Amino acid sequence: MAKLPKVPKRIPKPPGPPTPPPRARPQYPGPRQVYPSTGRDAAKRVWEERPRIADSMLSEEAKRAPAHVNKVQRWRQIPIFLGGLTAFGLGMYGMQLYNSIITAEEVENLPEDFIDRFDKEAEGYDEKVNMAETLLLLNKRRKDITKRVRGHVLEVAVGTGRNIPYYPTKQCATVTLLDYSAPMLAVAKRKWKDTHPEYFSRVFFKHQSALQPITPPFDARDGYDTVVQTMGLCSTPDPIKLLHNLEAATNEDGGRILLLEHGRSHYQWMNDMLDKTASGHADAHGCFWNKDIGGIVEKSGLEVVDLKRYNFGTTWWIELKPRQGKGYKRPVTMAIVDAVKGSEEQAPVSPASGSGVPQRSWWSFWR
Ligand SMILES: C[S@@+](CC[C@H](N)C(=O)[O-])C[C@H]1O[C@@H](n2cnc3c(N)ncnc32)[C@H](O)[C@@H]1O
Repeated sequence: MAKLPKVPKRIPKPPGPPTPPPRARPQYPGPRQVYPSTGRDAAKRVWEERPRIADSMLSEEAKRAPAHVNKVQRWRQIPIFLGGLTAFGLGMYGMQLYNSIITAEEVENLPEDFIDRFDKEAEGYDEKVNMAETLLLLNKRRKDITKRVRGHVLEVAVGTGRNIPYYPTKQCATVTLLDYSAPMLAVAKRKWKDTHPEYFSRVFFKHQSALQPITPPFDARDGYDTVVQTMGLCSTPDPIKLLHNLEAATNEDGGRILLLEHGRSHYQWMNDMLDKTASGHADAHGCFWNKDIGGIVEKSGLEVVDLKRYNFGTTWWIELKPRQGKGYKRPVTMAIVDAVKGSEEQAPVSPASGSGVPQRSWWSFWR
């Protein structure tokens, strides 16, 4: 009997697919090889290759050369792109505005003041207004106004502190930031700490109404040198009283009140739109956007040093000066008399308004 073959210990594997050749290692550039340029380099190169006035003198043949044609075409894309982006932004804004106008309803029984709206909206306020402010170039106006502050500075209705990043702290002796809404002021305080951590011992946060007397810091003997308010008249129930109160806190020798406000436009069609939507907007966001800012300033009687308008006249830039005898200036002799008498804690009423406006304690004279 034939012998059976021996059972193999291991069953041989069927031959698999052929093994691929080892992968070629990627060739990295050697130390002297030039790496691809960064975006910055590319932008620099494009800028250097920009069309120049001298190009207009080129011969017809040179103008038709592919390199020249490419260069001109590349540069033409930039204004087309920017124009398109602006048109898109304005279109979106216009659509939003149009939508809110056609669906607007008159809201009745509005409250006297809207502080509760600001209390509620404080945390998301910046995100909400960012887009509109960018389209209206308000950041530039904010920068311009803040650049002008100097000495003892007061900003009222500071809100979330949208001007804070632009403060030139080197030219400020003290900075006082005031708002009637505690949550808004809390956001401003946080922003100040983030943007000016080095300037902390001379910044004061006041939680009070700007319609109430505002007392300057001890060493601002003659009142504030600069008083700033941006987008504040729109949300106060008594804007003339507010302006008088700001005047009463301002140093009448050279002090200035700087306002950046929004209100009525140069154009009737726009004012009609603002009027139609004003009560609904105020109910939702706490501000009336159809106020006659020029009329308010005129009625207040304060002296106008400069007035400019932007965005169809709805953005108002105003520089005011306190009237003599209405600003914050207390004769030194009165302070001496008080100090000698030492009888009263509160100094007599300042000549500012005769109604209890800024008062300093007699002892502040010594600071
Ligand atoms: C429209 S926001 C403007 C905030 C900021 N100034 C800006 O430019 O973005 C109006 C601010 O005014 C404040 N405000 C309204 N009435 C006030 C009053 N009587 N005294 C102080 N602040 C007031 C509100 O709390 C709110 O923060």
